[in-house]
Amino acid sequence: MSEDSSIHVELKGIVQEYPAPQGEGVVRIVDGVSVALERPGITMLLGPSGCGKSTILRMLGGVRPIGVKTPTEGEVLINGVRCDGPHDDAVMVFQRYANRPDLTVRDNVALPFRFALWKNKVPEAEQKQRIDQILEAVGLADKADLRPSQLSGGQNQRVALARALVLRPRILLMDEPFGALDAQTREEMQLLLIELFNAQPCVIVFVTHDVDEALALGDRVLVLSTRPARLAIDINISEPRPRSPLWRRSTEAMRMREKILHQLHESGQER
Ligand SMILES: Nc1ncnc2c1ncn2[C@@H]1O[C@H](COP(=O)(O)OP(=O)(O)OP(=O)(O)O)[C@@H](O)[C@H]1O
Ligand SMILES: [Mg+2]
Repeated sequence: MSEDSSIHVELKGIVQEYPAPQGEGVVRIVDGVSVALERPGITMLLGPSGCGKSTILRMLGGVRPIGVKTPTEGEVLINGVRCDGPHDDAVMVFQRYANRPDLTVRDNVALPFRFALWKNKVPEAEQKQRIDQILEAVGLADKADLRPSQLSGGQNQRVALARALVLRPRILLMDEPFGALDAQTREEMQLLLIELFNAQPCVIVFVTHDVDEALALGDRVLVLSTRPARLAIDINISEPRPRSPLWRRSTEAMRMREKILHQLHESGQER
């Protein structure tokens, strides 16, 4: 993974079909999605449940389901190179934080460095320095010796975020990472993500069901239609972050919220 944060990520004519759950044939889930993410920024991805958001996110990370061609048609290009499998530019963060219960906070964050790929890439002294730095940045320096069971949901998600960011990824893929958190903790995590992004800009693709979260975080908001999913909305938000309550109540924000909700509602009715 390079220190250089510049990266160009492109989905080109992506079609995804999966075997039909019952019987023969296939079901087309995603139908020709093309998006280019040309610079570091936060892109929010919304759409009705089952429309293929996680499928697209996994595709960006080069994660292939067993026995299914992914994508069925089209290609994912990273810096112009076709992505055909796992690659070390991207890391993923999920709603279920995937922290190891038997390891301390510090060891959970250090986990990627146990794998040869990262161990060899980052000198040991730098690993330690990065771990200390990220624990500080996510506010867990004083909890480094605790285990996940001794932490709250928000703190556990901080551990997962730290484990991702310790690798200084150029692409950070987040699948409803704050979906299980209460409203206040979710807002704290959003502010933390903004701080971390400002300190270490990268291409973030963030899946959410929460329109307010999309408006709080996104430089760009993409909304998919219902199955087969196509790109229904693509909007840019130039308001600097963190975005004030005043902006959230502004006509601009209200219009965006309504447009997105209208699309999601329409998709819901089509299903
Ligand atoms: N490996 C697979 N094999 C067969 N079908 C799959 C596979 N992965 C996903 N699907 C199906 O594709 C559809 C889209 O799934 P996906 O998880 O991408 O949706 P999503 O938009 O992330 O949904 P949610 O909002 O509920 O998380 C679902 O109907 C799912 O069952
Ligand atoms: Mg999903």
